[in-house]
Amino acid sequence: MRLLSELLAQNRAWSAEIAAADPGFFTRLAEQQAPRYLWIGCGDSRVPANQIVGLMPGEMFVHRNIANVVVPSDLNCLSVLQYGIEVLGVHHLIICGHYGCGGVLAVLRGERLGLVDNWLCHVETVRRRYRGQLAALSTEAERHARLCELNVVAQVLNAARTTVVRDAWRQGRELAVHGWIYALRDGLLHDLEVTVTSEEEVAAVAERVDLATPPADER
Ligand code: CO
Repeated sequence: MRLLSELLAQNRAWSAEIAAADPGFFTRLAEQQAPRYLWIGCGDSRVPANQIVGLMPGEMFVHRNIANVVVPSDLNCLSVLQYGIEVLGVHHLIICGHYGCGGVLAVLRGERLGLVDNWLCHVETVRRRYRGQLAALSTEAERHARLCELNVVAQVLNAARTTVVRDAWRQGRELAVHGWIYALRDGLLHDLEVTVTSEEEVAAVAERVDLATPPADER
């Protein structure tokens, strides 16, 4: 029980394989970190960030949590954003959700999972905001898929409205915030086309997503 010898053996094999292909790889990586991308994704074991975009160690700064949530009261996520943007100088922030997200489904069904419900309340906010759009869909599978997408869009807007991202834009830094969703069934990523590179674009995307919602009196 105490030994995870299989994993450690696999690690040695992995290290040897990389070193054989590129003898200077680990020495170079140890000297500096200069990733071009910052990824905020779900912690789901089926969505391994680097692997699905074909990137090696050193190429992407990664933060993952349940249901890929960005909230301005989360010091952990804010620190990742600030460090990634200001210190590492990434130009692309990718918020990546995935279809079939268990956290999103729990919210959709109103299920109780335990302590994690307190975290998922951020997804519940998204569900409530877009309940008109969700109610217009006929099956739970469609509502689940749509809520996974809407959650990504909402987190793109949340990230874009943090002081960190707004300050970066005000300082003239080049920074794009992208919203992507990953399909477990075929391993393909889809761009939700909500990329924002300025505060004006944030307002436009927010309006576009809200417009898909029926008027308040129909909800
Ligand atoms: Co998930």
